[in-house]
Amino acid sequence: MKALTLTNNAQTESDKKLQEEIAKSGKIPTHIAIIMDGNGRWAQTKGNIRIFGHKAGVDSVRDITESCAQLGVKHLTLYAFSTENWDRPTVEVNGLMKILVKSLKNEAKRLNENNIKFVTIGQIERLPEKCQRQISEVTELTKDNDRLQLCLALSYSGRWDITEAVKRLSEQVKEGKLEPQDIDDSMISSHLSTGEVPDPDLIIRTSGEFRISNFLLWQLAYSELYITETYWPDFRRAELYEAIKSYQQRDRRYGKVKNNGYSKSASASVLKEIIS
Ligand code: IPE
Ligand code: IPE
Ligand code: MG
Repeated sequence: MKALTLTNNAQTESDKKLQEEIAKSGKIPTHIAIIMDGNGRWAQTKGNIRIFGHKAGVDSVRDITESCAQLGVKHLTLYAFSTENWDRPTVEVNGLMKILVKSLKNEAKRLNENNIKFVTIGQIERLPEKCQRQISEVTELTKDNDRLQLCLALSYSGRWDITEAVKRLSEQVKEGKLEPQDIDDSMISSHLSTGEVPDPDLIIRTSGEFRISNFLLWQLAYSELYITETYWPDFRRAELYEAIKSYQQRDRRYGKVKNNGYSKSASASVLKEIIS
């Protein structure tokens, strides 16, 4: 187990206190997933071109990753680039890939010293060689870390993920290793790119859009949603704490009823009367 201290920007006492209060006020989500949206608009409102927003967004990634690690969140999945984002102007796609390579280079040591494991999901083979190399390096460097797993979704889409799982299961059926009637919920889950990672407890989307945009479609079946107007480059730990507090107030019923939900008077005969 590695030391849990930060390498620089040491955590302030007041932040530590805030985190302790949050930990006391309810359950900390095991898995938080974030649709990091609004970088382009953030830059444009400042009179800059969109790519500035992507660059600024890296600071938010660092702050949210660190605060999640400090809070005891075990999985943080960040939607960084979707399958559909390939259709953006070449200059933007190239800029994003350059920012990715540079950020991974800059952050590798810090991630490792903070005992954070780095992984990716998505069609990594579609990324430029340089990106793939950098991803492999950071993945290898941090593979034994166990404080927090930071997963970047790159060239990812929920439909792609489900399609790949279906292909893998079909192969097993074809080879006679699996009977179609034996395919169940958990088998599909474990064949997705997220594998054995628990489903997200909380999904955050920045920039005020009320949509999922092809993120973890299967995995979010019972995730709690938190949508904020804040653009991603302005989303920092103070707002993460608000999102977690909101999550702690939610009544997660998973389709069931709370505390039985029926009074003693709702006997079989009463029910029979109501339904007839
Ligand atoms: C999110 O910000 C980052 C990526 C999708 C890569 P956007 O680039 O979508 O910014 P907006 O939503 O257009 O403002
Ligand atoms: C979703 O944001 C993808 C990422 C945050 C990586 P988009 O900006 O691509 O989604 P839409 O176009 O608003 O649905
Ligand atoms: Mg967007």
